[in-house]
Amino acid sequence: MYVCNCNGLRKRDVASAIEAGAVRPRDIFVRNQCTAQCAKCVCEMREMIQESRQAFALAAE
Ligand code: FES
Repeated sequence: MYVCNCNGLRKRDVASAIEAGAVRPRDIFVRNQCTAQCAKCVCEMREMIQESRQAFALAAE
């Protein structure tokens, strides 16, 4: 499933960037060697970052 159609970024590409330390959509683009074009995917990227943070916080409790 694609998160970013402009750059062909799949969910696993975004998840991998987040696991590698991306904390904002811009970091995800940089880690995948591309840039935002239409930016329609930014909301979904932010949601994935937020979900990752929440999962990390729960694991730390
Ligand atoms: S869908 Fe990601 S920049 Fe357009």
